[in-house]
Amino acid sequence: MKSISSSPAKAILFGEHFVVYGVKAILAAIDKRITVTTTKTDDDKVTIRSTIARSSIPISTQYEKTKEVFRPFFYIAKKTIQKHSFKGGLDITIDSHVPSGVGLGSSSACCVAASSSIMGLFGNNFPDEILKMAIDAERTIFKETSGADCTVCTFGGLIEYDKKNGYKRLDVKPKFHLVIANSKISHSTDAVVSKVKKFKEKSDVFSNLCAQESELVEMAIKSLKENELVSLGKLMSQNQNYLEQIGVSNEKLGSMIKLANSTSFGSKITGAGDGGCIIALADESNLNKTMDVFSNKNYECFSVKIDTTGLQHKIES
Ligand code: MEV
Repeated sequence: MKSISSSPAKAILFGEHFVVYGVKAILAAIDKRITVTTTKTDDDKVTIRSTIARSSIPISTQYEKTKEVFRPFFYIAKKTIQKHSFKGGLDITIDSHVPSGVGLGSSSACCVAASSSIMGLFGNNFPDEILKMAIDAERTIFKETSGADCTVCTFGGLIEYDKKNGYKRLDVKPKFHLVIANSKISHSTDAVVSKVKKFKEKSDVFSNLCAQESELVEMAIKSLKENELVSLGKLMSQNQNYLEQIGVSNEKLGSMIKLANSTSFGSKITGAGDGGCIIALADESNLNKTMDVFSNKNYECFSVKIDTTGLQHKIES
């Protein structure tokens, strides 16, 4: 019996970093997916395979002692095995169509798909329990996560999210495209979040920016509901300005933002920043032009649609 789960990646439209400190963020699940397949085995190991790595780890191992790249998967597997007093092992295969370390939530999508695949093998398909397990697993490598990324990867669509109240689906029929361009500078979310924490501790600017970001997010929700792309784009560019002030942009990202703004409605970093991807807001009138400005300069770029299905799970014999 195979338990197969797939989770979408994500883009943060507004509020990354500020969300870690309680500000509301707006996120979108995007139509790029990670699939995790789990089967039971007769040995006492958790075997994890992906295109980049493979490891067989004895179940008796403490999860803290495993390599970071395997740790969330091992954590979920061990917890589930123990909960069900299962006597065998697990074989977990990861198939990713999401570039990693570039702000598109590959780690969160992995945690969500793995939680669903592993827990689903033991008959647990409750989304809230899967989400909790995914966030706990992500915390084994990134302690400060706000939980926003795992939440949108679980439920899909467009959501607003804050740490206190959790998520609310935004009842919007998106009429826009997101163009995603990759700086190819990989980053560690944990390291960038720590850098922002130091910035916050050193200066009052951060708390002022939190207040401004909160106002901006409310305006963005209104623009999204009214499909007002010109104002939404301007708000994205304003959000980019706040992200620059907290120090998570750099020269390359800045020049990509300039390129994007020459054709799109507005653009910003998505995710932790310091590298990774930028997103540009477009519709049919400027989508191709926006793609072209990046392709002409040899940037990897693609357009995405909002994924409305979220996590999917099936059992195959
Ligand atoms: C990372 O995709 C988003 C951050 O806000 C961190 C988090 O919310 O956990 C930088």
